[in-house]
This record gives sequence, C-alpha cells and structure tokens, in this order.
Amino acid sequence: MSENKVIDESKQGEALMVEQPQNSNGKKLFLESYGCAMNFSDSEIVASILKDKGFSTTQDFFEADVIFVNTCAIREGAEQRVRQRLNEYKKAKKTNPDLIVGVLGCMAERLKSKFLEEEKLVDIVVGPDAYRSLPELIETAETGQKAVNVLLSKEETYADIAPVRLGSNGVSAFISITRGCDNMCSFCVVPFTRGRERSREPETIVQEAKDLFEQGYREVTLLGQNVDSYLWTGGGLKKENPTKEELEHATTFAQLLEKVALVHPDLRVRFSTSHPKDMTDDVLYMIAKHENICNYIHLPVQSGNSRILEMMNRGYTREWYMSRIDSIRKIIPDCAISMDIITGFCSETEEEHQDTLSLMEYVKYDFGYMFAYSERPKTLAERKYKDDVPAEVKSRRLAEIVDLQLKHSALRTKEGLGKVHRVLVEGVSKKSKEQLFGRNSQSLVVVFPKENYKPGDYVNVLAESCTGATLIGKVVK
Ligand code: SAH
Ligand code: SF4
Ligand code: F3S
Repeated sequence: MSENKVIDESKQGEALMVEQPQNSNGKKLFLESYGCAMNFSDSEIVASILKDKGFSTTQDFFEADVIFVNTCAIREGAEQRVRQRLNEYKKAKKTNPDLIVGVLGCMAERLKSKFLEEEKLVDIVVGPDAYRSLPELIETAETGQKAVNVLLSKEETYADIAPVRLGSNGVSAFISITRGCDNMCSFCVVPFTRGRERSREPETIVQEAKDLFEQGYREVTLLGQNVDSYLWTGGGLKKENPTKEELEHATTFAQLLEKVALVHPDLRVRFSTSHPKDMTDDVLYMIAKHENICNYIHLPVQSGNSRILEMMNRGYTREWYMSRIDSIRKIIPDCAISMDIITGFCSETEEEHQDTLSLMEYVKYDFGYMFAYSERPKTLAERKYKDDVPAEVKSRRLAEIVDLQLKHSALRTKEGLGKVHRVLVEGVSKKSKEQLFGRNSQSLVVVFPKENYKPGDYVNVLAESCTGATLIGKVVK
C-alpha cells in the first residue's frame, strides 16, 4: 500500500520477489503486477505455484528465463501502460532468444489469443482463473509453441494455495474472499475479465488469517469486487434463490467479518470493495461491535446523479446512496468513507456533474479515487451509449472533483488534530529515517518519532500537526 491518498489503481508495476525455493530448477522468474489489489493478491498465488516448481525470482528482467506481467484492463490507459512495458521486454528478448514472456490477468482474459497477434513477443496468455495450468503452459512455450489458457471457472477460488507474500511490509496482507463479479455495471470490463462471482470457503479464509497472525502480520484486508455480496453456501456460483436450509448453513459477509475479527484482537480487519446496493446494516453493526474491524468503508458512488447511476446500472439512486451514508454515520459515528467516481460518463450534463459535486459536499469523503470515463470494448455502455463527452470536458470535470476531494481530505485530516490515535506501525516514513508511519483505524497515515518502535507495533499517537493527508504527532503512553 502506498502512503498516497489519491492514486490510480493502474499504478506502475514493480518487480515482486520470492525467497529462493528448495527444489530449485535453476530458472528465474521476473513477475510484475499492474491494476488493483486483487491482481497483486493473484500474483502471490502465481508466485506460490511457480515456487513449488522450483523457480526463483529476479528483479532484473535481463536475467530472467520467464517474464510474467499481470495486467489490468479497467481503462484504456491501464492497457497502454502494459503495452509500453512489453516494448521494454523486447530488449531482453534480443539478448536472450529463449526468454518466455507471459501476460496474465485481466487484459490477457480480454484479448485472449488476439494478444499473440498484436504483441509478437508474447508466448503465453493466461486468464485469472487458469493459473494452476502455468507450469504446463511454460513447458509448451519452452518447445517454441505459443500457449493460451483463458478459461473462466465457476468454482476456482485458489482456496488451497498458500500465497507467497510479495513486496510485503510484513504487517499487512491481502486475503481474497470472492472472485469475479455478477454486477454488470455498464462501464465495467471486470465481469468479462474475471467471470462469475464465487465465494471462498470461510474456514480457509480464517486459517489464512491465523497463519498470517502467527507469522507476525497484524492487518488483513479481505478482497472482493463486491465483498458485501459474499455468501458461502458450499461452493460454486452464488445461488440465485438459496433455500431456507441452505441459508441456515450459509456464511454471510457480516458473519465472515466476525470470524476473522475473532482470530485475535490485535489483528486488524479491513475489507474492500463495498457495493452500496449490497451493504447491509448487519455489516455496519458488526464493524461497530468489534474494535479490530477498522472504521473505514470504501463505498464507490461513481456518480451523484440518479439518471447517470441508472445508465451505469449501479442498482441505486442518489437518495438511496445518501441513506446508506446516513446509516454509516449513525451506526459507526467515527467511520471514514472513501469513494470512486467516474467523470464524463456517456451523456453526462453539466448539471449532472454538479450533482456529483454536491453529493461530495454531503459526504465529505476522507479519500477518493477519481477517473475520467474510458470506454471499454464489449461493455453494455459501449454497445448501447455514445461516449459523447469530449475529452477536455471529462478532464475539466475530473480536475474539479479532484480539487474538491483534496479539500475534503484536508478537512478530515484536520479533524484528527489534538486527538490520540491508535496506530499500527507499518514502516519508516518516506521523508525521514527518524520517523515511523502507520495508519489509524480510519486508514489515515500518521507519522511520529521512531524511538524504539518497530513495524507491527501498536502505538497511541497524539496528533499535533498535519499536512493535507497525514497526521504528525508523538507517542503517548
Ligand atoms: N468492484 C468495484 C470497482 C472495481 S474497478 C466497485 O464496484 O466499486 C475500480 C474503479 O474503476 C471503479 O469503481 C470505477 O470508478 C473505475 N472504473 C471502472 N471502469 C471504468 C471505466 N470504464 N472508465 C473509468 N473508470 C472506470
Ligand atoms: Fe465492475 Fe460494477 Fe462489478 Fe465493480 S461491481 S467490478 S464496477 S461490474
Ligand atoms: Fe484491473 Fe482487473 Fe483489477 S481490470 S482493476 S486488474 S479486476
């Protein structure tokens, strides 16, 4: 996780390292990840599968026998970034003609074998549900053939694979709890790249949290495209109409939260993403009940206008979203709330854009992730609506939204002044080696003098000053 508040999910990839395997096959893997937390979490599954086969990792792609890039397709820009990166790998292929280049993840799933035609250096194309077949795909590629597996699954959750923690700070880790998405928001490519929604068996989630705690981790983030939709009824696709008996034996998201919270009071539990249409009061009461479930909800709104929300197929109106906000404020008074917003969706007028700004004023979000609409092939919006808001209007509206969010983030940060915050220490501050940083329950970054504290400790920090999105203070006993 970064210390930044306003980030683009399609951030620069970084090479991910694994400790050396015992059964080394002498081959080196260069693995990097683009896109959302789910992709980073998937890369940890991939690393685990390949470590079992004896691969070690390298941070230098010129040294690699295999380069894997886990790709994102959410916006045009995310795909362009991947293509630029592939261009750079060409240099490595020149010095090592046996080098295998594989594309994984959402862009691989979207383009399928077309990827091989469009990018000649690619040898392997593999979608998010097919990572178990990677060893065979590599074997095929080693014989000089191209290898593709983009089958989507109705069952795969990788529940039995122990992820190798990559690029970790040793304090916080992701646990994926659902895969895929059944929602079909009209702008979104994810249902096409990740397939149908499946929930993962709760006991395997709890066990992973326990293992992490024993290894010294102190925070887990439960991941899914729509965590509130989590429902375990024995595996496979989500049942449309579960019977009463099935429901009695089922685990809901609120129940799962409690199971994970009970692993240990010193294990913080976070989750992402909540979908406004599915977030029940049960979940809110569960957050309020357990001290270690963090008071922070990422609740993407996308737009503050009901006509646009309807076109986006989000399943709620402006008023309904506001009533969810009111419930959060009532049940968890000190809860931080963040959002995703898309500007310039098809046919969005200036007044409708103003509705988004006024909704932001109503909520005063703590953080925000904001994007200009990018049309994606095959989505409902691409087939049905015209992408008719000019690029410069999209970016002007985006700038207005970003400006307002920066103001609100600064306001929320200031509210933390003069208060004592329970902070989980994550690492050394970027600005000074003498300072540590961590987060409070609301996910706000807090910086304080190092003394003898270390990552994984909980400290109480009195906030004395702040920058736009960081509190600065001293430890109080
Ligand atoms: N499952 C999450 C979102 C996953 S994608 C949810 O439903 O909230 C992360 C964010 O990317 C979305 O919330 C949306 O704001 C943005 N996004 C998705 N598709 C987009 C598109 N076509 N153009 C611009 N932004 C998009
Ligand atoms: Fe995309 Fe909507 Fe699913 Fe989120 S809920 S992944 S925005 S389709
Ligand atoms: Fe990108 Fe796929 Fe995540 S499209 S945002 S990597 S689910």
